[in-house]
Amino acid sequence: MKVLMINGSRNAAGCTFTALSEIAKELNAEGIDTEIFHVGKDAVDGKVNEMVQVAIEKMKESEGLIIGSPVYYASPSGEVIAFLDRFFGAGSQVLRHKPAAAIASARRAGTTATLDVLNKYLQYSEMPLVTTNYWPMVHGNVPSEVMQDKEGIQTMHVLGKNMAWILKCIEAGKKAGVEEPEKVDKIKTNFIR
Ligand SMILES: Cc1cc2nc3c(=O)[nH]c(=O)nc-3n(C[C@H](O)[C@H](O)[C@H](O)COP(=O)(O)O)c2cc1C
Repeated sequence: MKVLMINGSRNAAGCTFTALSEIAKELNAEGIDTEIFHVGKDAVDGKVNEMVQVAIEKMKESEGLIIGSPVYYASPSGEVIAFLDRFFGAGSQVLRHKPAAAIASARRAGTTATLDVLNKYLQYSEMPLVTTNYWPMVHGNVPSEVMQDKEGIQTMHVLGKNMAWILKCIEAGKKAGVEEPEKVDKIKTNFIR
């Protein structure tokens, strides 16, 4: 089993990466593979479509998803939003019913607003949300500060353990013959008709 982790920061090895790596440690300890996919500036430099195709291929081989973003102006990064808008549009079939979570990294504030935006992609796509023992955020401007955020790091570890447990439950359910609900044709109304 594998979990794909999206690093929505401009920094390949910054705070978001550090938080994702702490989740990965717990998943790896449970025998679950992980891959951190760096979105970076390419998502806003005209390369988003190619990047999304690569991520969809990776998602086909993954049973779970974690999205990580730094907080920029009290929101997710523009890079991760550009990526997710395309990824969730084009990749809905490979995302549906795979357990998922979003995490945020900030110096100080804007984390819950950021998580609210990120969680909506998951909720729209019928992805079971994996939770932890606090809102899934870390605080720091550089990785060494994130590692001093003891509560944030514990929150990441608990998230990793819970993700591993849910993945194993789903696998056991499939083996026992529990079937996924069928996808329904979506009813789309607006406020006029
Ligand atoms: C353009 C920009 C905007 C930011 N806005 C906020 C903010 O609104 N609130 C906050 O607490 N930190 C803000 N920060 C700090 C980052 O969220 C913080 O340093 C984060 O942990 C960086 O993660 P990274 O190393 O993965 O990029 C901002 C940083 C940048 C570059």
